[in-house]
Amino acid sequence: MVLKKLPDFIEQAKKIKGEAAYEVLARVQELEREGKKIIHLEIGQPDFITPKVICDEAIKAIKKGKTKYTSPLGVFELRSAIADYLNKKRGLKVSPRMIGVTPSAKTAIYLAMIAILKPGDEVIYPDPGFPAYGNLVEFLGCRAKPVPLIEENNFNFDLKIFSNLFSSKTKLVILNSPNNPTGSVIPRKNLEFIANLIKKHNCWVLSDEIYSELFYDIKNYPSIFSLKNMPERTLLIDGFSKTYSMTGWRLGYLIFPEKFESIIDNLFVNSFACVADFIQYAGIVALKKANKDVKKMTEEFKKRRDFIVKGLNEIKGISCLKPPGAFYVFPNIKSFGLSSQKLADYLLDKAGVALLPGTAFGKYGEGYLRISYANSIGNIAKALRKIEKALKNIT
Ligand SMILES: Cc1ncc(COP(=O)(O)O)c(C=O)c1O
Repeated sequence: MVLKKLPDFIEQAKKIKGEAAYEVLARVQELEREGKKIIHLEIGQPDFITPKVICDEAIKAIKKGKTKYTSPLGVFELRSAIADYLNKKRGLKVSPRMIGVTPSAKTAIYLAMIAILKPGDEVIYPDPGFPAYGNLVEFLGCRAKPVPLIEENNFNFDLKIFSNLFSSKTKLVILNSPNNPTGSVIPRKNLEFIANLIKKHNCWVLSDEIYSELFYDIKNYPSIFSLKNMPERTLLIDGFSKTYSMTGWRLGYLIFPEKFESIIDNLFVNSFACVADFIQYAGIVALKKANKDVKKMTEEFKKRRDFIVKGLNEIKGISCLKPPGAFYVFPNIKSFGLSSQKLADYLLDKAGVALLPGTAFGKYGEGYLRISYANSIGNIAKALRKIEKALKNIT
């Protein structure tokens, strides 16, 4: 038999980029294997153990035989618990039939985007922003329209610049509040302006609210979903990774207009079939019984945020806003005259502190670093001392 050359991967698949946080983590682990001590401020995952009630429930569910396939959109009890939580806690109007449970928020983002985008569509998304947005836009053959988040606007975008990005081809706007990597939150008046534009241009919004429970100093903040006539054009994403310190469990959800239930069901059944049965039961308990744990973790994050912002602003050459949400700070390092990438590499090398260049989140992240404060105050204090010492050697 004549062996034929294998067909190649499609161009878009070959072009898809990775995620800097994972790349840096791999490099750091290599350094650690060589015996170097590194302080981890690069990865976006809470350092707390998943609350005990949640772990206990997962074990109980396995023992009870919750180890089978479930319906693709998730077990009804979880869909119901999510609806209850969103309605009571976040003041939204969601029914269980508008909810699909996914193995991570990332999967929900991916499937939502492939459900609504076709090549040539334009997508507006925050820059700096979560890398998957831009990567998927390119992968799907769509046109990227990044909107800069501006430090002078507390890392919100300028509404005029935002308005000018719309065209007849705009199909989707992605929002992320509280935001990764800046920790910013979109104020209600901006959301109202954004919602009106989205309605005027008849497009979709994907609202990534994975940090929905992690906000400080402010009492509450709205979801675009809650604004008039927005539920019919909003795909809301949330998940358990950040709020309940469940990154490794892979549990998230997608909220969609009820009329699309069967389409989403088919999309899920053809991709992951369903989320692990027992993990879904652990999710129910997270929503119903882990409130105290969430409160404790959030209070600890607030202390760390205050500590790191103060410490960074005491270092000559750095200025850092106090972000109202998530667990990241985005300090300005322009005074050092080095690119974000060079400074991040330098700090890993010379200070033994792993963090990310702002450009890992898009071109408008140049001049900034992203630091995750999902680490203990003791480690953050050590990292700040090492950063200060290393920066003194840059002329
Ligand atoms: C903005 C944003 N969206 C989504 C995710 C993905 O969350 P999950 O762990 O549920 O995939 C992350 C994780 O870092 C994130 O920062």
